[in-house]
Formats: sequence, C-alpha cells, structure tokens
Amino acid sequence: MKIALFDTKSYDKEHFEAVNKGYGYDIEYLTPELNSHTAVLAKGADVVCPFVNCTVDRAAIDSLKENGVKLIALRSAGFNNTDYNYAASVGIPVVRVPAYSPHAVAEHSFALLLALVRKLTHAYVRTREFNFSLSGLAGIDLYEKTMGVIGTGRIGRAAIDIAKGFGMKVLAYDPYPAAIEGVEYTDLDTLLSQSDVVSLYCPLTNENRHLINKATIDAMKDTAYLINTSRGALIDSEALLDALKERKLGGAALDVYEEEAGIFYTDQSDTGIEDDTLARLISMPNVIITSHQGYLTKEALSAISRTTLDNIREFEEGKPLTNQVK
Ligand code: NAI
Repeated sequence: MKIALFDTKSYDKEHFEAVNKGYGYDIEYLTPELNSHTAVLAKGADVVCPFVNCTVDRAAIDSLKENGVKLIALRSAGFNNTDYNYAASVGIPVVRVPAYSPHAVAEHSFALLLALVRKLTHAYVRTREFNFSLSGLAGIDLYEKTMGVIGTGRIGRAAIDIAKGFGMKVLAYDPYPAAIEGVEYTDLDTLLSQSDVVSLYCPLTNENRHLINKATIDAMKDTAYLINTSRGALIDSEALLDALKERKLGGAALDVYEEEAGIFYTDQSDTGIEDDTLARLISMPNVIITSHQGYLTKEALSAISRTTLDNIREFEEGKPLTNQVK
C-alpha cells in the first residue's frame, strides 16, 4: 500500500516514521493541504491521509478517484471537512481516528482556562521584562464555580473529571445524555445562563454551526468565560468579538477558529494576517488563541499514527473497517 500523507508537519513525519517501522508502508510525506487542486499529487497512492484543514469535498474526491485512490484515512477525530457520503457513493470509504487522547484536548482546554482566568499570558510577559507588579492581575478561583460542558463524549468526560478535581459544579448539555456521576444535564439555555465557564466539546455538524451566536452569548453571564477546543464554526466569531468589545463576556480562549484554514499551522509573523476579526480577537486582553494544538501531545501523536496505520491495514486485509465514518 502506498500512502500519500497530506499537510505533513515535522512532528507528523517523526511519529509516523517511528510507528511505521512495525507496518512497513510506503509513505509519501506531502506538505500541501489536500483539496481539489492538490488531490492530483496523490496519483499512484492507494490511500490519502488528510488532516483537519484539508478540504475533501466532491471535487477533491473526484480527483482522488480519477487518480486511483481507494481509501481516505483521516488522521483526526473530526470529519466535518470530508464529504464522506459522496466518497462512499464513488466507492471510497472514509476512516478516522475517533479517539487518540481525549485527555490531550481536555487538558489543553483547562490550560487555556487557567491561563485566561489567572491572566498568565500577561504575568509571563511582565516578569520577562522584570516587571513584578501585580496590578491588574487579580483572577478568580475555579473552586465552586459552575462549568457548563457542551458535549459529553470522550473529551467532554475527560474535562468533567478535571473540573470535578477543581471542585467545580458541572452542568452538561448533550442531545444524548449519559449517566455521569456528579453531572447535572440541563437544556442549553439553563446551562448558558448558570455557567461561569462554558466549554465546547461537541463535533461541528450542519445543525450546530454558530451554536454560540449573539442570542446564546446574550443568554450567558457577562462574567462568563468561553472555551472552544472543538471546531471554530461552532462560534459566530463576529458575534463573539462584538460581545467582548461590549464587555458582555469575561473572556474567551479558542484553540480553533472558523476561518483557521490557511492561517493556523503556518508562520505568518513576517506578513501579518488579513483576517481582521482574528487579528482583533488576538489583540483583546481577555482572549487567548492557540493554533489548533489541543491534540498536540507525544502520546496523542503516537496514537494517531498507530490507529491510522491500523485503519489502513484493516482495509488492506479486507476486514470490516472499525473506524469508518458513515
Ligand atoms: P465524541 O464523539 O466522543 O463526543 C461528542 C459528543 O458531542 C457526543 O456525546 C455527542 O452526542 C455530543 N454532541 C453532538 N452534537 C451536539 C450538540 N449540538 N450539542 C451538544 N453536544 C453534542 O467526540 P470527542 O472525541 O469528545 O471530540 C469532540 C470534538 O472535539 C471532535 O468532534 C472535534 O471536533 C474536537 N477535537 C478537537 C481537537 C483539537 O486538537 N482541538 C482534537 C480532537 C477533537
């Protein structure tokens, strides 16, 4: 099997190379993101391996089909970037890595939350300048605050465990509630109006695009903190920016952004960015943005490589595809 791995970064190659020693696949590491223009680069490969900001739409899938690709092996949990129904209709199954380290993402959401509520980014810059003043750095305790968890799947549950460790009360919203000790499920409005922290752990679907919008932000406490480590388009970024400008939110920490494709994972430090909304969000004192790195731990990267190659092996051996997206 020949695999064309798109959007390769040095850390992807490092972990795939190490894990592939046990599989022996022929992997071509390609830098471009997979889309309708770059799909032709997969010519000669049996499998393509896209990442989160690749655009695997109908046109890209047609080109993959034309070039002999037989399997799309996403190396991510999210699959909103892939028209998997269309791929299935032309005989190309789509597989993904449903769980690699839910802890990686859940822990990152708390890293963001703590940095935000304790103003760590400001404190860090100050002490680097030998400014040891504490003025303006007062934060809040998380202890006994209410955490609103939207989506109680693998990552949401890992986050709930962390929240409980901080002594937080947990409210949850999920169309498919589970029995989780110490967690109270509510409707979305109740969660939004009662939570001190609202954190998103649900997938992006056609139904929940801009789940957080002007109306839902208005329903939140003016002091609430919004955390998003899921997918950018769950939040209407313009509405978020307006709310922050009007001080209708305590702050926001985002690991994902709805227009992140083409910006995140790239170094634009010498040119700046054209996206004014993102630039303005980054400039706010109560906003922290990371570049979709929630998954970026050594444990998760190894697990992603292993599951991706396991998925490909199942396909090669004609076995049922455990992680097929349907
Ligand atoms: P999961 O499939 O285990 O859980 C998702 C949960 O969200 C399910 O319980 C589902 O019922 C619920 N849900 C679906 N629609 C909802 C809605 N409209 N409102 C509330 N809940 C809803 O998924 P997992 O592994 O917990 O991942 C969640 C998301 O995290 C992924 O879909 C992906 O978008 C994102 N993610 C982000 C990463 C990062 O690096 N920042 C890395 C991995 C995943």
